[in-house]
Amino acid sequence: MKTSSTSSTQAIPQTGDAPVHVAIIMDGNGRWAKQRMMPRTAGHVRGVQAVRRTVEACGHRGVRYLTLFAFSSENWRRPQQEVSLLMRLFVQALEKEVDKLIEQGVRLRVVGDLGAFDSHLRGLIHEAERRTEHLSALTLTIAANYGGRWDVLQAMRRLLAAHPELAGRPDELDESALDPYLAMAYAPEPDLFIRTGGEQRISNFLIWQLAYTELYFTRTYWPDFGAAELDEAFEWYRGRERRFGRTSEQLKAH
Ligand code: IPE
Ligand code: IPE
Ligand code: MG
Repeated sequence: MKTSSTSSTQAIPQTGDAPVHVAIIMDGNGRWAKQRMMPRTAGHVRGVQAVRRTVEACGHRGVRYLTLFAFSSENWRRPQQEVSLLMRLFVQALEKEVDKLIEQGVRLRVVGDLGAFDSHLRGLIHEAERRTEHLSALTLTIAANYGGRWDVLQAMRRLLAAHPELAGRPDELDESALDPYLAMAYAPEPDLFIRTGGEQRISNFLIWQLAYTELYFTRTYWPDFGAAELDEAFEWYRGRERRFGRTSEQLKAH
């Protein structure tokens, strides 16, 4: 039996501090609106305010990477009117919010299969990324038309395109060979995952990168999320013991 490690997940981050990378599935906009007899789209509009609050709160707490799932590769299945409104909100946010991000030292990045968006939206994304690329207090990643399976597949395709010789020698492929080709290769793996809205599933978010992430679920609907809810999640996170396969005693001796 092997005694050495072949896992690419090695480091033991300190959980005593704020998480370095927080990844959030912003869920529950539709139910928030339904509860108030409002159209689902009203929930998305309010959801934008929660994004603003969360970005600011993460900045104040020293989080370095915040990743928000805004639109999944499966969300195209929603009614066309809802999809159009989500696209409009995305365009509006890119038009109106970038100056504020710059003031806060936030670098914006968008990951996902962006080819599906129209050229106006793609242009705005490109421009916002360019205007913030010198900033580093917090890196805000918006996952748009993103799917974890898409990410693994596109990484594999790009890896093989760059190293065609590996196709004939698959045994030489290891986990860390894929990492530089993943859409979020610039960030460490998430320390804390938060899903609002009460569902306890990953919904094809960062499936590769969440392998050892602490998973936190709250019933709070996304439009109600803010600094206080973030602090609750951080409090819970601080109480976790991240073992990465080791024993509790090994960690104490570390
Ligand atoms: C999350 O809220 C927003 C997106 C998926 C874009 P939902 O719209 O999924 O809200 P629920 O889950 O139906 O309440
Ligand atoms: C996940 O939420 C995607 C986003 C928040 C963008 P969904 O509401 O689409 O997930 P399911 O369908 O409940 O799994
Ligand atoms: Mg949902």
